[in-house]
Amino acid sequence: MKLLFVNACIRGEESRTYELCKDYIDKFLESKKDEPWRIEEVDLSTADIKPLDRETLAKRDMLLEAGRTGDAMFDLAKQIIEADHILIGAPYWDLSFPAKLKIYLERCFVTGITFIYSKEGIPHGQCKANALTYITTSGSPIGNYNLGYDYVKGLCALFGIEKTYFAAAEELDIIGRNVPQIMAKAKDKITDIVTGL
Ligand SMILES: Cc1cc2nc3c(=O)[nH]c(=O)nc-3n(C[C@H](O)[C@H](O)[C@H](O)COP(=O)(O)O)c2cc1C
Repeated sequence: MKLLFVNACIRGEESRTYELCKDYIDKFLESKKDEPWRIEEVDLSTADIKPLDRETLAKRDMLLEAGRTGDAMFDLAKQIIEADHILIGAPYWDLSFPAKLKIYLERCFVTGITFIYSKEGIPHGQCKANALTYITTSGSPIGNYNLGYDYVKGLCALFGIEKTYFAAAEELDIIGRNVPQIMAKAKDKITDIVTGL
């Protein structure tokens, strides 16, 4: 059984979002200690992935047309459909998430791999995972602009992932806020999520 950790915590070990993700993974593994779970991580802070451009898009179309999904360009899409549970950790940047995560997701949206269209044109998601958890931290309140998580919820609907969960530590950059207390509250939410899985 595989937990896929999509790590978009660009600041690495210094990242508060990463701290919450580590907490999630520890609690997840503890709650499943009688099952053979392992973690597979995609570290986007170091991953060398580029947006699709004219050349790579043409190559992708050609390969898909020929049914050649064995090409390395489809590895990330194949990896995400094989995961049994998915955790995305991404700081709240510019109302959503770091661009590296969008590039990663762009590589996962592949017709014929992550979703398949029926004859009637209805997409059917191909992901094995039935749940995805999204963790973030923000400098200010997120309020009605939880655009990163909203986007990921849309993706889950398309990819066939039924349940999504969300945990955040907000307002961490507002002077005077009790950061340890906010982080502790987010960790309580993580406990609730993991307990309910
Ligand atoms: C490039 C960049 C963009 C950011 N954009 C926002 C934003 O739109 N809204 C907000 O509340 N905080 C924003 N922040 C602040 C971060 O969300 C906040 O510091 C967060 O806790 C960083 O997470 P990390 O510790 O995991 O790196 C931004 C920070 C950076 C570096």
